[in-house]
Amino acid sequence: MTAASDAPAPVIAIDGPAASGKGTIAYEVAQALDFHYLDSGSLYRLIALRAIERGIALDDGATLAGLTGDLEVSFANGRAMLDGRDVADALRTEAVSAAASRIAVHAEVRSALIDRQRAFRRPPGLVAEGRDMGTVVFPDAGLKLFLTASAEQRAARRHKQLIAKGISVTIDGLLRDIRERDARDSTRAAAPLAAAPDAVILDTTDLSIAEVTAAVLAHYRERTGAR
Ligand code: C5P
Repeated sequence: MTAASDAPAPVIAIDGPAASGKGTIAYEVAQALDFHYLDSGSLYRLIALRAIERGIALDDGATLAGLTGDLEVSFANGRAMLDGRDVADALRTEAVSAAASRIAVHAEVRSALIDRQRAFRRPPGLVAEGRDMGTVVFPDAGLKLFLTASAEQRAARRHKQLIAKGISVTIDGLLRDIRERDARDSTRAAAPLAAAPDAVILDTTDLSIAEVTAAVLAHYRERTGAR
């Protein structure tokens, strides 16, 4: 059978480094198309939070991968819930960000999360964001984007967000964290941060969220002929 309904739901894969704006852009694009949305980084963050709470060593890949099985995750009004408790703010702390990037180096952890991520692919479509959406998790995505921006611009954006939330941080500290995470994410052996060969690369340094969202939608419409 070759009916169109047998085709897997379309996927837009958006990858890029820390604080490149992927999350906001992916969410906006999903809203515009009425697609599902996967923030794959939140899965790594949830495991990191649980590992910290249980005192599990961040270099123990096998035990960390075991944590993925009993992770009761849900999203209520866009907020991540772990075992029924709202952990949205806890997931965004710099401690959890750094731990997530350390546990993401383990191939066992990554493969334990693959099916969970693919399960988000449902009609009418999915916008998935992370580091390896276009390269590993959804290699057949109809549109792949790789967002970049200078480390300084990314640190400045993160600074603005955190200050608005009343969290006191310095740009220098954020810049150092971002550079460390970039280096670890790009040099790990398992699914390193990289643009897929067929990805559209968008430098967002001088673009607003609205401009990047419009550019992504224009690429999607051009590919699919959708309006
Ligand atoms: O995207 P976010 O900053 O929330 O991701 C947290 C960490 O999880 C990243 O620094 C990265 O190490 C890891 N990650 C990953 N693969 C993904 C998404 C996130 O390795 N697809």
